[in-house]
Amino acid sequence: MHQKEIEQRRTFGIISHPDAGKTTLTEKLLLFGGAIQLAGTVKARKATRHATSDWMAIEKERGISVTTSVMKFHYRDFEINLLDTPGHQDFSEDTYRVLTAVDSAVMVIDGAKGVEPQTEKLMEICLLRNTPVITFINKLDRDVLSPLDLLADIEKKLQIECVPMSWPIGMGKSFRGVYNLYRKELQLFTPGAKTRSGEVFVIRDLDDPELDKRLGSQAAELREDIDLMEGAANPFVYEHFLKANQTPVFFGSAINNFGVRELLDAIVELAPSPRPRQATTREVLPSEEQFSGFAFKIQANMDTAHRDRIAFVRICSGKFTRGMKVRHNRLGKEVTLANATIFMAQDRASVEEAYPGDIIGIHNHGTIRIGDTFSEGEELKFTGIPNFAPEHFCRVRLKNPLKIKQLQKGLTQLSEEGIVQVFRPLTNNDYILGVVGVLQFDVTMARLFSEYSVEADYEPADYAAARWVTCADREKLAVFEKKYRNNLALDSEGNLIYLAMSEWRLSNTMEEWPDITMHKTMEHS
Ligand code: G4P
Repeated sequence: MHQKEIEQRRTFGIISHPDAGKTTLTEKLLLFGGAIQLAGTVKARKATRHATSDWMAIEKERGISVTTSVMKFHYRDFEINLLDTPGHQDFSEDTYRVLTAVDSAVMVIDGAKGVEPQTEKLMEICLLRNTPVITFINKLDRDVLSPLDLLADIEKKLQIECVPMSWPIGMGKSFRGVYNLYRKELQLFTPGAKTRSGEVFVIRDLDDPELDKRLGSQAAELREDIDLMEGAANPFVYEHFLKANQTPVFFGSAINNFGVRELLDAIVELAPSPRPRQATTREVLPSEEQFSGFAFKIQANMDTAHRDRIAFVRICSGKFTRGMKVRHNRLGKEVTLANATIFMAQDRASVEEAYPGDIIGIHNHGTIRIGDTFSEGEELKFTGIPNFAPEHFCRVRLKNPLKIKQLQKGLTQLSEEGIVQVFRPLTNNDYILGVVGVLQFDVTMARLFSEYSVEADYEPADYAAARWVTCADREKLAVFEKKYRNNLALDSEGNLIYLAMSEWRLSNTMEEWPDITMHKTMEHS
């Protein structure tokens, strides 16, 4: 029974560069999965983002995620968990953490633009984690790059082998549809079709005259294309896909509902069910009986009336049942998971039971941090949900010094949510904030004000890079500490971090101190 539940689950995220069509595709997936009835629901929420200032936009965006950061729906016999990733590049850390909770990803590419910078960044993360990726090349109803060029672009920029699963016939005004190379089916495109998918014809053999009847002169083009492509393309090897060495590629047009069903079929047929997860002591299999999971995202103010904080926990093994008692690994305490929520596209509901691959939301009164592991019985700690060395730094200036306590509380909580990293220099009482995307500074200040009544602003701090520092030799570390005291700080978990004035300085120091290990990422304690 448990095994069946696991095999029926697919947990994935969509990665893309802004404007490639992620929102549109998300919406269409939900529509096909019957999770929403009306096209425009997700889009309309996104549209409001452009209405006000940057900060408000972020607030709104978080508002949107109230119901959309995890979307659960059924398709065929499968339970699908679609995890939303923030669109803005300044929130890439958040996206990274979401990607630690998925078993596969869908990469959306704008066919007219090919691989764009944000896609490259996110794919790097998927490749690093060996997350299998299915590619959807979007906007075929427009004039796009030639399919062969698109595949070459992906292979070159992303270092992953492409295996086209379908092949487009024409593009833009002359886009006629796709030929599914595996199912041997021709799917015809009707522009602006309100129907959920185009007409489908089974065409087992490309020499079939039916093809000429349906496509006219474009039939010869298709035959030629496929001939060319088959000579160059690699066969699909499932193991290569699972290791993220190969990506199956589909072509379509999300806005026209075209290729969406095909993509959903690929998600249930190709994307893996929940996979084993690495903990510090061992690998944990989803089929194990005892429950385990980890928090990968904390979201505050989901319900402004209650000022609550929800920790999103990905289940890795066992079965969740309401009210169960689990071990909160970091605190070494038993806690009751009483009030867990499961998220639907437009709703949330309380959960009675949930299985590996599912994401549950747990109400959190400041006891859960990103990276925390929950387990039944055994002491476990999942790895791979690190902090990233910040790239931008500032010093907080408190306008009213009497508010120092609130400032402390606010910064602690915001750092637990992963909004910002807080560092305390060894030599003074400053609060140095570090982020990967500068917009996070504004969010921090705005939230300090609105949630903790702290009026503060920030001034640039003269740092350009940071690395966590460790060394097996205590004496050497002590010498290093003495020499660089002015550049050392402690993060909120007490780890020592070296703040460098420039990249050049950093590499110099690294060269000079080969025994000191400089870490670009740091696992949560
Ligand atoms: P994002 O979440 O990745 O940022 O992209 P989003 O879905 O918002 O899509 C970006 C733009 O691309 C939107 O146009 C959307 O309508 C358009 N789009 C998405 N899929 C397709 C497609 O298959 N074909 C074509 N031609 N366009 C597509 P917009 O003008 O920014 O917004 P809107 O006015 O259409 O809502």
